[in-house]
Amino acid sequence: MSAEISALQKERACYRPKLPKALRSPRIKIQLGAHTQPVANQEEIQKLFPNTCGQPAATIAEGEGNLKTGPINVGVVLSGGQAPGGHNVIAGLFDALKAANPDNRLFGFLKGPGGVIKGKYRELTSEIIDKYRNTGGFDMIMSGRDKIEKPEDLAACKQNFETMKLDGIVIVGGDDSNTNAAVLAEYLRAQKSKTVVIGVPKTIDGDMKNAQIEASFGFDTAVKTYSELIGNICRDATSAVKYWHFVRLMGRAASHVTLECALQTHPNVCLVSEEIQAKGTTLEEIVDYIVGVVVKRSAAGKNYGVVVVPEGLPEFISDIKRMIDELSSILGKDEEYLRSLPDHSERLQYLNTRLSAASAKVYGSLPESIQQVLLTRDSHGNVPLSQVETERLLIDLVSDKIRLLKSRKETEAKFSSLAHFFGYEGRCAAPSNFDADYCYSLGCAAAQLVRADLTGYTVNVRNLTKPSDEWVAGGTPVTMMLHMETRKGKPTPVIRKALVELDGKPFKHFASNRESWALNDEYRFPGPIQYFGPSAVADAPTITLALEKGQQDPA
Ligand code: FBP
Repeated sequence: MSAEISALQKERACYRPKLPKALRSPRIKIQLGAHTQPVANQEEIQKLFPNTCGQPAATIAEGEGNLKTGPINVGVVLSGGQAPGGHNVIAGLFDALKAANPDNRLFGFLKGPGGVIKGKYRELTSEIIDKYRNTGGFDMIMSGRDKIEKPEDLAACKQNFETMKLDGIVIVGGDDSNTNAAVLAEYLRAQKSKTVVIGVPKTIDGDMKNAQIEASFGFDTAVKTYSELIGNICRDATSAVKYWHFVRLMGRAASHVTLECALQTHPNVCLVSEEIQAKGTTLEEIVDYIVGVVVKRSAAGKNYGVVVVPEGLPEFISDIKRMIDELSSILGKDEEYLRSLPDHSERLQYLNTRLSAASAKVYGSLPESIQQVLLTRDSHGNVPLSQVETERLLIDLVSDKIRLLKSRKETEAKFSSLAHFFGYEGRCAAPSNFDADYCYSLGCAAAQLVRADLTGYTVNVRNLTKPSDEWVAGGTPVTMMLHMETRKGKPTPVIRKALVELDGKPFKHFASNRESWALNDEYRFPGPIQYFGPSAVADAPTITLALEKGQQDPA
C-alpha cells in the first residue's frame, strides 16, 4: 500500500470513535440474564448443541467483575464480503485487550476462515493497527469465503488454537459465519478446549438483524455511498432530461440496501424482491409495471427517470425462481456432463430436454451471458448473483415492449437507457461515523466477552438511534437465533436471514410514497458521507434503522 495518505485519511486516523459509557469504564462486569432458547425447533437445536444451547444473554456494565486479567491470546478473522468498519472492530478488540493487560496478544488470521483452518496468521501490533484505524476495507488481514464446518476443519482449528495457546477467537461475519461460530464453539466445548468463540454481525446486505441484533455493521456506510451516487444520477436525469437510468444494487438475498437507497433518494421505480415474491409477480408483470411508469412520465413530457433494483431480484421472481431451482437440481445430477459439452448451444439443447416447458421458455428468453451465469454456482451452491446483469435484462425487455407499443401507436415515449451496478463501490468505503463508532464498540465488547470466558455468543450493541453514550453492549447466545432450514437437501441449524418485512415501517413508508415518486420528480440528494460537521448530518443513522426504532423519517 502507498506510504502517502490522503488529507482525509490523515484526519480520519485521528478520529476517536465514540463508545457506550460502560465500555469506556476501566471497571467492567458482565451481567447474565435469564436462560435463552432457540427462536424455533428448540428440541433439534438442543440436541445439536448440548453444551452451548440455552446460555443466558449477557450485558456489559460498569462495575467490578471477574473478567480474566490475562495475559491472554486472542485470534480474529474476517469472513465473507467486505463491509466498512471491519478494521475498527479489530482496533476496538486490540485496544480493549491491551487496556486490560498490555501483555494480552491479538493474532489476525489471514484470508478468512481458510486461514484459521490452515493456521495462517500474523500478530497484530499497534504499528499495524494504527495504520488501519477508521479505514474501509479488510486489507489488514483480508477475508475469504471458506467455511469451518467439516469435521476435519474443526479438528484442524482446535489443533491450531492449542498450538497458539488461544483463549478466544472472534469471527467477524454474516449469518452463516455466526452460525459456523456456534458450531465451532460447541465443538470446542465438547472437546474441553479452552478457546472460546465470539461472533460479530457484519454484512452490507443488512440481513443479519433480529430482536437482539439491531443492525449489521457496514450497511450504514454502503447505503450512504450508493445513495450519494443515485442522488447524483437523479440530478443528472433531471438535467439532461433524456435518459432512463437503471441501477442494480448489491444485496444477495434481502432488499434492505435497495429499500434504504430508495428512502434516501426517491427514485421513480424501486423493486423490492420480498414484495415480488409475496405477490408471485412474473418477469413480464415487472416489465409491464416499469413500462407503465415510462409511458405515464412520457405523457407528462418526462422521457427520463431512475429505476433501482436489488441484486437478489432474479431469485424472487416466481418464474425465474422456479427455473433456477430446476437448473440447480439438474446441475446437482448432471453438472459434469453439462460442463463436458463443447459449447453453450449444446448445453441449451440438453437443458431444453430437462427443464419443464415453462422454465425452458424463460431460460431461452434470457441473453446468453445471463444463461451462462445461471449455470455456475459459488462455493456455497449459490448463483453468483452479482454477475447477473438484471439491470440490462430489464432495459432490453422494457425497450422491446416500448417498441411494440410505439408500433401500435399506443405511446410516443422515447426510451434511452443507461445501466449501472453499485456494489463493490461501497463495500470498502471509509466507514461513516456511525459505522466507525459501532464497529469500534463491537470490537471492544467482543474483547470483554472473551475475557468473561463466554463462548458461542454474537456480540451486540443496542439503542443505536440514541447518542453513543446510551448504547448498550452485550452478547446474544448464537443458539438463541437459530432455527432449522433445509440446506443442500438436509435439515441444518442456521440463523434466520432477515428479509424486508412488508408490514415493517421502512417498507410501508416506501409503499405509501412510491406512486408520487413515480410520476413527480421528488428526488432527494443525500450527497457524500460527512465525516465532520453537525451531528445531525455526520452521525445520522439510516432511515431504515430510524423507522424501525419508531422514529420519523429523519430526512
Ligand atoms: P456477505 O453476506 O458475506 O457480507 O457479502 C455480501 C455481498 O456484498 C453481497 O451483497 C454480494 O452478493 C456478495 O457479497 C458478493 O460477494 P463476492 O464478490 O464474493 O461474490
